[in-house]
Amino acid sequence: NTPLRVALAGLGTVGGGVIRLLDANRDLITRRAGRPIEVVAVSARDRSKDRGIDLSRYAWVDDTRELATHDGADVVVELIGGSDGPALTLARATLAAGKGFVTANKAMLAHHGLELAQAAEEARVPLKFEAAVAGGIPVIKGLREGAAANAISRVYGILNGTCNFILSKMEAEGRGFAEVLAEAQALGYAEADPSFDIDGVDAAHKLSILASIAFGTRPAFADVSATGVRHVIAADIAEAAALGYKVRLVGVAEEGAGGLFQRVHPHLVPIDHPLAHVTGSLNAVVAEGNFVGRLFFQGAGAGDGPTASAVVADLIDIARGEFGPPYAMPAAALVAAPTADSGER
Ligand code: HSE
Repeated sequence: NTPLRVALAGLGTVGGGVIRLLDANRDLITRRAGRPIEVVAVSARDRSKDRGIDLSRYAWVDDTRELATHDGADVVVELIGGSDGPALTLARATLAAGKGFVTANKAMLAHHGLELAQAAEEARVPLKFEAAVAGGIPVIKGLREGAAANAISRVYGILNGTCNFILSKMEAEGRGFAEVLAEAQALGYAEADPSFDIDGVDAAHKLSILASIAFGTRPAFADVSATGVRHVIAADIAEAAALGYKVRLVGVAEEGAGGLFQRVHPHLVPIDHPLAHVTGSLNAVVAEGNFVGRLFFQGAGAGDGPTASAVVADLIDIARGEFGPPYAMPAAALVAAPTADSGER
């Protein structure tokens, strides 16, 4: 069977994870995909860095943009991040070249998701991004496919592993913010710029993508209001606990008076709510559909293994020829999010 040939941009935490996963589960993946999935070319900032990966197996490409037109590749996987710059250039060039594109880049999708979906649909190629939201949790598939028949009234959840790790360590171990953030960085959870995590920007990127899938709105970061956890102190957490609450950074998209609210901020979550039990770097997403009822997804939201798992699941879909429009409906049917006009925002 003809292999699906992959060009991989970025060999950081997630890129390394993708290579290790494809190696470790090679036979299983081949059987499930119906054909082998092979990385043929890679590109990263520094070739000489020791990543514990044998790079001699792949064509090395110095200029990431060239992966888009790399002869031997059918699909490009982008794991370099950043809303604009090389990632966006690569995405545009890949889709223009008529190749599929898989990405974990929530920032790019939150800013340019509509344009990229239009380009993918025009070229009739896949654009897949399961890894962009909630790491290893198949929440894009769950909402886009599993809940496809439902009107969804609300989607909310814990969308940033770094913040959840910080809040739960401060709570359980009484440790300081800066110290726990450094640990989250060392574990590979945090963004290259961790202010994206702690200021709620990363969760807002993800929420705008979830809202698109759930409500058929054009993904737009500007529609999300975000406040992060920078100013949460140990005393807030202790006081919340005394009243029967946990502090969690929650993103919510819900239909309200005349519009759609999309916001991320620290919430007081009652201790008997499922989100209160989501600890460490875990993420969770709740969606309420009119026929399916309440769906609850939970799992690892960050880290190499879970995120790589989502990337490779997308590659398996592509290898099988299973893909539809990137969002839950064609890009042309997505509407600008109606602005909620109450003062609640
Ligand atoms: N920095 C992100 C997080 C990584 O902490 O959730 C996964 O998107």
